[in-house]
Amino acid sequence: MTRHFLRDDNLSPAEQAQILDLAARLKEDRFLAKPLQGPKTVAVIFDKTSTRTRVSFAVGIADLGGVPLIMDAQGSQMGAKESIADTARVLDRQVAAIVWRTFAQSGLEEMAAHSEVPVVNALSDEFHPCQLLADLLTIKEHKGELAGLTVAFIGDGSSNMAHSYLLACATAGMNVRIAAPAAYQPDAQVVADAQAISASTGGSVTVTQDAKAAATGADVVVTDTWVSMGQEDQKAQRVADFAGYEVDASIMANANAEAIFMHCLPAYRGYEVSADVLDGPQSVIWDEAENRLHAQKALLVWLLQASARDVRG
Ligand code: CP
Repeated sequence: MTRHFLRDDNLSPAEQAQILDLAARLKEDRFLAKPLQGPKTVAVIFDKTSTRTRVSFAVGIADLGGVPLIMDAQGSQMGAKESIADTARVLDRQVAAIVWRTFAQSGLEEMAAHSEVPVVNALSDEFHPCQLLADLLTIKEHKGELAGLTVAFIGDGSSNMAHSYLLACATAGMNVRIAAPAAYQPDAQVVADAQAISASTGGSVTVTQDAKAAATGADVVVTDTWVSMGQEDQKAQRVADFAGYEVDASIMANANAEAIFMHCLPAYRGYEVSADVLDGPQSVIWDEAENRLHAQKALLVWLLQASARDVRG
């Protein structure tokens, strides 16, 4: 059976741990695995802009012995002229995997339903699971074992990052807290899914409007932009709505003294995070950005191995 990675809970706790362990090994020995040697090609499709995801997948696929085929919707027939299902049927005869950054999660699900090679979510409006593998790798590097650690995500609780934090941290047995204004709370089904996972992993889920309470005693404090891709016309309203949710020194003072600060980037200093926190000693954002490479390489190796079908390409 072909395995896909469309949302964080597509991996069991044991599978997530395997991928993080492999990522750490690939970080130590960058050319340890060559599953794409041939070279095989991986399609990497962008419907939205990207720096980190574009670079880390391109470099990572090359490290694994393969060739990245970077595509966009504007330059292909995909979407307007040809269905997602037909696009999947064309791609999977020629490539070893399909990596796609897009808008609706339903598009990724349709691609996966018609693809015989692994499909990877490189960010959708609902989830950003590749970022979370990198974030968990970073937390592990700085804090050790993940289970039992407390993470506070402060900002847009309805965002793809908040949703992925809920599912990925629950899978890892962590205590995840989301602090967001009332109008920006996480999707109720995602919260329920995270709670169900936590019940078996020993983690916990807290959703609040109180940013300071969420940060209190946290091992990790996280935020993301208040204005995600496609929301640019709402910027003024959103900046007003998120007043009081900036992660600044007063928020960090509530966290553990050894707490780390994380942000998936790009960051907007003076909005969701103050410059002194983003650029300060508790910030691990550059490790986090680098770890996209190692985590995604491990994910691709694992997906290719786990998928029963011989990969064409
Ligand atoms: N964090 C992240 O996904 O960065 P890019 O949008 O630059 O890919």
